[in-house]
Amino acid sequence: MSIVHRFKRLVGIDTAQEKYSYAQDPLYGKVSTARVADTWVKTTCGYCSVGCGMLVGVKDGKAVAARGNPDHPVNRGKLCPKGLSEHHILDGPGRAKLPLLRKNGKLEPVSWDEALSTMVERIANIQGRHGLGSLGVVGTGQLLTEEYYTLGKLVQLGFRTPNNDGNTTLCMASAVSGYKLSFGSDGPPGSYADMSTADVVLLIGSNIADNHPILCTRVGEGPDKRPGRTLIVVDPRVTKTAMMADIHLAIKPRGDIALINGIAHILIRDGLTDSNYIAAHTINYDAFAAYVAAFTPQHVSEITGLSVEKITKVAHLYGRARAGFIGWTMGVNHSTQGAVTVAAINNLALITGHIGRAGAAPFSITGQCNAMGTRESGFTSALPGYRKFDNPEHREELAQIWGIDAEEIPKARGMAYPDIIEGAVTGKIKALWFIATNPVVSFPNYELLKQALESVEFVVVQDGFHPTPTSDFAHLVLPAAIWGEKEGTYTNSERRISKVNCIVTPPGEARSDFDIFLALAERLGVRDRLYPGWQTTADAYAEWQRVSAGRLCDYSPYSWKEIEDAGGIQWGGERLYADGAFPTADGRAILHNVPCDPFLEQPNEEYDFILNTGRTVEHWHTRTKTAQVDMLNKMVPNAWLEMNPVDAKRLQLRAHDKVTVTSRRSNVSGLELRITSIIAPGQVFMPFHFAETNSNRVTLGAFDPISREPNFKQCAVRVQKSSSQ
Ligand code: SF4
Ligand code: MOS
Repeated sequence: MSIVHRFKRLVGIDTAQEKYSYAQDPLYGKVSTARVADTWVKTTCGYCSVGCGMLVGVKDGKAVAARGNPDHPVNRGKLCPKGLSEHHILDGPGRAKLPLLRKNGKLEPVSWDEALSTMVERIANIQGRHGLGSLGVVGTGQLLTEEYYTLGKLVQLGFRTPNNDGNTTLCMASAVSGYKLSFGSDGPPGSYADMSTADVVLLIGSNIADNHPILCTRVGEGPDKRPGRTLIVVDPRVTKTAMMADIHLAIKPRGDIALINGIAHILIRDGLTDSNYIAAHTINYDAFAAYVAAFTPQHVSEITGLSVEKITKVAHLYGRARAGFIGWTMGVNHSTQGAVTVAAINNLALITGHIGRAGAAPFSITGQCNAMGTRESGFTSALPGYRKFDNPEHREELAQIWGIDAEEIPKARGMAYPDIIEGAVTGKIKALWFIATNPVVSFPNYELLKQALESVEFVVVQDGFHPTPTSDFAHLVLPAAIWGEKEGTYTNSERRISKVNCIVTPPGEARSDFDIFLALAERLGVRDRLYPGWQTTADAYAEWQRVSAGRLCDYSPYSWKEIEDAGGIQWGGERLYADGAFPTADGRAILHNVPCDPFLEQPNEEYDFILNTGRTVEHWHTRTKTAQVDMLNKMVPNAWLEMNPVDAKRLQLRAHDKVTVTSRRSNVSGLELRITSIIAPGQVFMPFHFAETNSNRVTLGAFDPISREPNFKQCAVRVQKSSSQ
């Protein structure tokens, strides 16, 4: 195989037409025959929310290869480097294989029976002394929808604590809240197909080339390349995605709200709004128009650092587009103003009528493979099926289906993730249960998180891997099956429900999360009441279909088999709100006046840089999974810090120096310095994947008051050469 050919396969360019023999490849050499699969199992990638369809090759009960499913509508045969190497995580060296209980300070192997009995007894004891709410549970977008639904019932109705949330609050809670503010419900209105058919695609704080790589095929070169389409990328960094753009707006950090309001100002001033749509389908227009009148291009230019000409040009492109698409990711969500920024984006779509038509949609691109499924089926920030805690009819509907008294269902959401952590520090939370998540690396302000973990009486970590930086703090480790070892569904960013299948059996004594939940329910004495007759995730899916029936996220028409055969099915169809009817009280969407406040921790003389954090294509979140994959580790072995040449010169730093980043909270040392104009003067960037150089030692523990999402993107730091070199 030529280098070019191999590269093409790696980036997912279709090489099916090109003849190639593994056996003759000097790089694959003898290994090649061991990797020739006997059978190929259809499934869905377990990393990101793009939701690529894949085929995993199995030989002698082992997963030996992965390739894109050419018939899958999302990725049409392509996979990114993570998907292509995903089978390696299944027998990775770090898999958790035995239940472990801390005895005399040391984690020691115990039987499942002892592990689960201990968990139930310790939690009952703690709840007896400190109240039911003293248990805090943090789940994950890594579970199957069937499992997350099962978990919600177990936590809220079995353990009877309302303090139940997911790591999704670190990721797309702002999108959820923003949709609710504007449209009355969660639910991304658009589709990937809209990215392809739009004639203007505006990406705000969304580096898809690193984080959702296969989505690049929708806007870059290739079959979806549309002559005349304009790709506009708003990002303070010249990301790989910004490099693909026709227009890059290198905005000052947190200039997004001013820019969006400024675009609205120009659209209204220049008559580029859709007054029929506004009159028929929105409320609050007059107040909104008066509000954005203050966001003159000149004023916006000062806040954002962008020229009046560029802002005007982008506003005109979006306003004159036949179909305009706005996509966003963490640059928007990871902010103390995340929820309202999402509402501001929705304002633009609403005043131009760029919603509910082919190519026209505001569209959050989510993170984890099943973040969407968990927010639909979860019992965390909402009741299952996008129902509301404070709606008595919604509680009654669920009570009917579940055969319980509606009084058992909480009337308000319990603590969100950051409040659970804070509660652990202040003593309200005494037991913590983490499921497939790694807060020691992913949660902001590590020092406080560490204090939380050390303050509580009992920490349970249920994960497919051990040790992890978080399982090091555990009193009990429950080894779980992961992607490839269980059957059910994930739902991707575009509401596509996809089937995931068993490829191999879990290692050692690891059990599926679903089995663990049922076994706990059994010990709590609630199994028959909460899960009558349930044996497999198919039983959970059947009940979830009944629970979601008639709701916006309605799974009831689609069987697992239909989902599998179709390569996934989008609930709600290709796009929502085609009729302009929104799930609000009067059916109209709400325009919001969104103030633009400066971010909390501004740089000063002592902390003179703004730190921005993000990701790289080769790794996934905190590397619990990708650290298992040799190829990915070799491609990107460690974290780095990007700094502009002007700043590096001022600080007399040189490329590859080891540097220390210090904030008011703590510091992180030994980062490799990359001097590059990708980053603007006064700003630095580092990836958040690496436990050894944990960006969250320095990030700020500030949260959006509405969504509770952390402000990962901006904090003030200083940079020095590390002393130990
Ligand atoms: Fe998996 Fe996302 Fe890569 Fe697709 S783009 S292969 S879903 S990680
Ligand atoms: Mo996020 S929760 O990983 O969409």
